[in-house]
Amino acid sequence: MTSHGSPIDTNCMTLTRFILQEQRRHPEATGELTMLIMGIQTAVKSISNAVRKAGIASLFGMAGDVNVQGEEVKKLDVLANDLFINMLSSSFTTCLMVSEENKTVIEVEKDHQGKYIVCFDPLDGSSNIDCLVSIGSIFAIYRKTTDSEPNVNDALQPGNKIVAAGYALYGSATMMVISTGNGVNGFMLDPSIGEFVLTDPNMRIKEKGKIYSLNEGYANLWDPAVAEYVQGKKAKKAGARYIGSMVADVHRTIKYGGIFMYPATTDSPKGKLRLLYECNPMSFVVEQAGGKATTGKMPILDIIPTDIHQRTPVFLGSSGDVQEIIDLYQKHHL
Ligand code: AHG
Ligand code: MN
Ligand code: MN
Repeated sequence: MTSHGSPIDTNCMTLTRFILQEQRRHPEATGELTMLIMGIQTAVKSISNAVRKAGIASLFGMAGDVNVQGEEVKKLDVLANDLFINMLSSSFTTCLMVSEENKTVIEVEKDHQGKYIVCFDPLDGSSNIDCLVSIGSIFAIYRKTTDSEPNVNDALQPGNKIVAAGYALYGSATMMVISTGNGVNGFMLDPSIGEFVLTDPNMRIKEKGKIYSLNEGYANLWDPAVAEYVQGKKAKKAGARYIGSMVADVHRTIKYGGIFMYPATTDSPKGKLRLLYECNPMSFVVEQAGGKATTGKMPILDIIPTDIHQRTPVFLGSSGDVQEIIDLYQKHHL
């Protein structure tokens, strides 16, 4: 509140300002990471805008559909992917990208290349688009560590090499949650000024939560450790919540505590979620907030990837809750 009684904060901490300030703490920084995050921020604002008016803009339906004006319209996930690719390629900060939507790595044209590699899921929770349930975007940023031409091996870095990661949640408000390896901060989009404003500084996950989150429809396909774990949660009358959008389920886990799980099943022995652009960035954020992330047998962030689209089972959230499932995997010798 200003001295004039106006509700406008004349000195608000925007995401841009916050990242610039972080950059100042590294005297060797060139500003490239800041520019990269600005590019992602623009993509996210634009996706948020598209999500909010998806119905009237006829963004639903098949890719390549024609809307009432006779213009070609893109499905939301195609639009989100194009935005990420275009905003990153034009930021002069990125040499290589991995997207959930592209089979192979995407190399940025030579004279636009920078030193970073970005892995992203441009639109997560796409099965929730048509029923207006929260969806999101996820990203992880790595440094290129070799002098070779950018190639797929540059993208196969373990999560513990992440420089920065985060997600955008298109929920009842739009939020960006980001970590540059120095804790986690959350920024809410203020549509009146088109800026992300710091609303959740230094986010921390409770050590123990009361909520467990997984798709119980697959209960008959779980291994004995997961089965025993979920049985234990029910015995303690824990709350069950499952949105089916990883970003929304993980954001709730960070805010309220508890555990999010996408375990292996007999049908999908590696689970469903992808390591590079789902599990790694979310695990990085969760650990930066004081939580834990595991496959059940090893920390997610220690996995050395061999394929850009590989999957992994994942358990993440409150450290106490995640430790319980690690203990059960040991007990069952899995
Ligand atoms: P995407 O929309 O990017 O393909 O990801 C969907 C994922 C994830 O968001 C969610 O946690 C999971 O799918 C839900 O899967 P189930 O329907 O098998 O529970
Ligand atoms: Mn996804
Ligand atoms: Mn997706």
